[in-house]
Amino acid sequence: MASCPYLNSSMMLSKPKHPTASFCPLDFPNSQHLSSSLSFIASPIGGVKSVSRRCRQTNQRCSLILASMDNPKKPLKIMISGAPASGKGTQCELITSKYDLVHVAAGDLLRAEVAAGSENGKQAKEYMEKGQLVPDKIVVMMVKDRLSQPDSNEKGWLLDGYPRSSSQATALQAFGFQPDLFILLEVPEEILVDRVVGRRLDPVTGRIYHLTYSPPETEEIAARLTQRFDDTEERVKLRLQTHNQNVESVLSLFEDITVKVDGSLPKEDVFAKIDSALSNLIEQKNTTMLAT
Ligand code: AP5
Repeated sequence: MASCPYLNSSMMLSKPKHPTASFCPLDFPNSQHLSSSLSFIASPIGGVKSVSRRCRQTNQRCSLILASMDNPKKPLKIMISGAPASGKGTQCELITSKYDLVHVAAGDLLRAEVAAGSENGKQAKEYMEKGQLVPDKIVVMMVKDRLSQPDSNEKGWLLDGYPRSSSQATALQAFGFQPDLFILLEVPEEILVDRVVGRRLDPVTGRIYHLTYSPPETEEIAARLTQRFDDTEERVKLRLQTHNQNVESVLSLFEDITVKVDGSLPKEDVFAKIDSALSNLIEQKNTTMLAT
């Protein structure tokens, strides 16, 4: 039986810097054909491994396609937004455990500064206690520096609680950080207060609990849970006011990439909707990458 003349002379489909697939040119005469052929096997994280086709010339199942996309070259860049206690942190736990993105939470970065007693932390605390936005001169560089770390660059990032104003959004864009998707969690205000007051944090694992909706699994965990200094009914009302004053100006900048999700559903159902939006996004990105 004749062997396929192309078996050992596979061609690179994409730019050398982004190797994606080698293929038998008889089966896949152009990249458009290839991308449509491959779209059905793209896995959630973009790891198209291999595909074989029967060669038109030799009738052998010889065309070899190996795509080295374990680490897709276009990692996801996601922003998640919503009112205080809308479930951003909870969803970020679920998203990062499935998609392995680097979780960058503006509130956590600020709390780390407060705990360290740094000059930035001292200033930030004054604003956080009043439920106000910490000034851009502190927040912007903090977030920019974290997004610039090699892990965010390689794995992709999930930015939580930033931007909270149009000036924060434009500052980040000016540094070249542009999201693929903007997720907005929508939750009625009467639910939010209840969520804040019942929230507890595990200082050991960093996990978020709620005394009613997501109670700790063991007595041992329950005994070590802590409460955030701004998680009082009085302060959450101030945080809500700040959120309501700013949210529209931020949303208007990301309208075309926004997915609104009903955050009042049980957390697993909220995640199912986010998961579906992310899967679609990854499929789109893979198709675009293979076609270019
Ligand atoms: P930050 O820490 O970001 O607080 P926030 O925006 O008020 O949001 P939260 O962390 O309170 O809530 P969440 O949406 O993450 O909800 P969670 O998943 O924990 O910011 C704090 C402060 O820092 C700000 O007020 C500001 O001063 C400053 N700051 C932060 N970012 C800034 C920025 N960019 N610029 C300037 N200043 C900034 O859930 C809450 C509770 O509900 C939990 O108990 C959870 O178990 C429960 N829960 C979650 N989902 C569900 C569900 N689906 N059903 C039932 N219960 C649920």
